[in-house]
Order: sequence, then structure tokens, then C-alpha cells
Amino acid sequence: MNETATLALSEVPQVYKRHVFACFQQRPPMHPRGSCGASGAQPLWERLGKQLEASGQRDIVMTATGCMGFCQAGPIMVVYPEGVWYQPKTPEDVDEIVRTHLLGGELVERLVIVPHI
Ligand code: FES
Repeated sequence: MNETATLALSEVPQVYKRHVFACFQQRPPMHPRGSCGASGAQPLWERLGKQLEASGQRDIVMTATGCMGFCQAGPIMVVYPEGVWYQPKTPEDVDEIVRTHLLGGELVERLVIVPHI
């Protein structure tokens, strides 16, 4: 144990106000596991990136990820620090998540999924 550590977990400064992880995993269309890429993720995440850039909010960022384990639900994204998983299907869904959750701090309940491990 580090004897100089004095911060509690809840006291660690956060780098970003919100951090979005978006799954870009691509598998072939008939792959048994499916994939977010095969479910149309790429144009949605491109839109998400453009919307965030246009917002000018440098403390809200997106990171492209590989598979997060819930492929059949794709396309999926997760927003931290809240840990909310979303399943947007259209560009308008992405716009609503950006406007309402990422910028507004409110849940978009109709697009929430709760993956089960
Ligand atoms: S391919 Fe996106 S969660 Fe597995």
C-alpha cells in the first residue's frame, strides 16, 4: 500500500465532465455474435463526434472502443461518470443523447439499456 495516498476514491479529480465510450467493433454480417459495426454504428458515432465538436465542450469527449461484450444490443455506447448504457438507432437518437444527457445532464430513458453480465 502507498503510505502517501490520502485521497478517497470519491475525491479523485475527474479529467472530464463526461466520457463516452462508443463501440466500433466490426464483424462480418453473418457472424453469430453480431457486432455494433454490423448494426450501423459507424455513421452514428461519426455524428456523435461531430455533435460534440460542434458543442465546443472540451470536457465532454468520446473514445472509440472495441467490443464491450453486449454485441446483440448494438450499436451501444456508455456514458461515464454515470455509467449509463445507450442503444441509439438513428441520428436523431444520437442528437437527443448529446443534447439531453451529455450537455443537459438528464437521462434519455427511452434509449437506456441495462446489459446483464
Ligand atoms: S460488438 Fe459492440 S459490444 Fe460487442
